[in-house]
Amino acid sequence: METLTTSQKMRTAKDFLPINGTDHIEMYVGNAKQAAHYYKTAFGFQSLAYAGPETGVRDVASYVLQQGKIRLVLTTPLLSTNPISEHIFKHGDGVKIIALWVDDAYKAFEETTARGGKVYMEPKTIKDENGEVRMSGIYTYGETIHLFIERKNYTGLFLPGYQSWKSEYNPSDAGLLYIDHCVGNVGWNRMNDTVKWYEDVMGFVNILSFDDKQINTEYSALMSKVMSNGNGYVKFPINEPAEGKKKSQIEEYLTFYEGEGVQHVAIATNDIVKTVRELKSRGVEFLSPPPNAYYEDLLGRVGKIDEDLVPLQELGILVDCDEEGYLLQIFTKPVEDRPTLFFEIIQRKGAQSFGAGNFKALFESMEREQAKRGNL
Ligand code: FE2
Repeated sequence: METLTTSQKMRTAKDFLPINGTDHIEMYVGNAKQAAHYYKTAFGFQSLAYAGPETGVRDVASYVLQQGKIRLVLTTPLLSTNPISEHIFKHGDGVKIIALWVDDAYKAFEETTARGGKVYMEPKTIKDENGEVRMSGIYTYGETIHLFIERKNYTGLFLPGYQSWKSEYNPSDAGLLYIDHCVGNVGWNRMNDTVKWYEDVMGFVNILSFDDKQINTEYSALMSKVMSNGNGYVKFPINEPAEGKKKSQIEEYLTFYEGEGVQHVAIATNDIVKTVRELKSRGVEFLSPPPNAYYEDLLGRVGKIDEDLVPLQELGILVDCDEEGYLLQIFTKPVEDRPTLFFEIIQRKGAQSFGAGNFKALFESMEREQAKRGNL
């Protein structure tokens, strides 16, 4: 019988790939200048660094934004001949790179490629007046990449090649602190291979599993398995569609992303009511709240919580608990016209899980949106 908590399971992960956390997320987008404006205005990110024609880069423009410990890079190609153009043509705007902060990028490459990781970037050292960064990279699901970034001998703002980006437009932040987890959607029958890949190549451990009996609505179903590194700083839930009466949100994603990729990035806050109020006032669109009965039953389901129910219900914030505590969470609508990438805002009060008790309410809300798009 299984008696380990999720925290205890994390500690059973293998240690050949020590990871200190998420270094940055890089999105390929059709218009990085406008996307940067959106993430500053709507989500409260701050201007940090820039690389492009003005800094001697001829083929792309990249804007680096920061909030709390989160670094978000928005990159756009300048000509159709750039391979990034092909990526955007196929997938639309989306997450290309989940970069991981490691102590030794050369060793990370050796360990993962020796275990079957497919090479994206051979190890290299890049330098400027602020020191050097060592980096390497491998492919994960779809065309998504894990870069390994080693920056212990670097004091610059981001990476060599980037210059400080001083903007006159500086909206206040929204209390976003760090990346809690990044979720990948994989195709039919691809779950087990993907889980095995994270176990074998990255040394991750499967800390939670949900089958289609646990994640279903009247219309659709999916399966989800959560992979974590040893210290729990990096968590990658993986979703696979399952058979249902209608098309699941995972199938809708796979159709419109035209392949496997990052479904959502969950960002932590320590005051979810304040953060969500702020984001809403700036135009971030969230999924509609669950029916009133959800809040009437809430305390019976999760026990006593510190927060008032009224603002949670008003904003549509969901609550779930596990053996270690509880968590509050809410999901945005997709942040582009294709129904692909969205964000989650999460506040953990001890719980190390992912809101399984909310799956039904959440997916019903998603299905209402899917139905509006004619994709259910
Ligand atoms: Fe999530």
